[in-house]
Amino acid sequence: MKYKGIILAGGYGKRLSPLTRSISKHLLPIYDKPMIYYSLSTLMLAGLREILIISSPRDQSLYKVLLGNGESFGINIKYAIQERPDGIVQSFLIGEKFLKGYSSVVILGDNLFHGQNFIKQLEESMSNNNGATVMVYPVSDPQNYGIIEFDECYNIKSLYEKPKSFKSQYAITGLYFYDETVIDKAHKVTPSNRGELEITDLNKLYLMENKLNAKIISRGFAWLDTGSIDSLHDATSYVRTLERRQGLKIGCPEEIAWRKGWIDDKQLESLAIDLLDSGYGEYLLKLLNRIN
Ligand code: G1P
Repeated sequence: MKYKGIILAGGYGKRLSPLTRSISKHLLPIYDKPMIYYSLSTLMLAGLREILIISSPRDQSLYKVLLGNGESFGINIKYAIQERPDGIVQSFLIGEKFLKGYSSVVILGDNLFHGQNFIKQLEESMSNNNGATVMVYPVSDPQNYGIIEFDECYNIKSLYEKPKSFKSQYAITGLYFYDETVIDKAHKVTPSNRGELEITDLNKLYLMENKLNAKIISRGFAWLDTGSIDSLHDATSYVRTLERRQGLKIGCPEEIAWRKGWIDDKQLESLAIDLLDSGYGEYLLKLLNRIN
């Protein structure tokens, strides 16, 4: 199966207003880098080099300034516009041409994943995917997410989008793996009560065909959704704490590209030189002299 990646970075981030009055939330900082670096890094860790970034018309030019055509990270980035934030399923309608003939990995631009064996989990989710695969994670506030309910044998029973009453503690994270049939299915989804094409409704179509898989992310792993003021702050504290303790960056696309061999030492060095004033560049230069 061949995969392409989509980052959904649309919307106007109203839950972060006034921070987002003039700029996309996905460009706000999470500690030492823009939010979108983390979702981009996730797709790169999954080995994807063809990536579509979907944003609002207001913000597209800023993404282009930040990431260009992706060449400096050894990848190919294309851009598309989501006129209005009408739901995650719109990604497949907007990205229909881009995805033709490919399976897809879609990540919400405000989702941050970090933990051990993540690359292995990504690779398994892609190679074992016989329809759709979602990653699920226990949370203390399930009413704020898409939720998955299992039976005693961990077979998927049902899905709910932001249920008012408690169904299960397992939230569906904003990282989804789909086969090529996703586009046909996306065309069948109709707007929900809140007027959005809900990803949960799309996943229900896979569930009806018995082709929805759930991968439970283990204890100790971090999944942070950074779309509110407090979760943005929590994510910044998390990244700062770990980066300062270990001296290793989280969500660093330059490092991932270099470790994957998508850019060489010389290219990494020239990226580093541009970033010397902030300390980010110094980190990249140090990588060149490290053994592991
Ligand atoms: C969206 C999805 C929800 C999912 C969540 C993950 O919620 O609708 O199913 O659990 O992303 O971040 P929203 O961002 O619209 O609150």
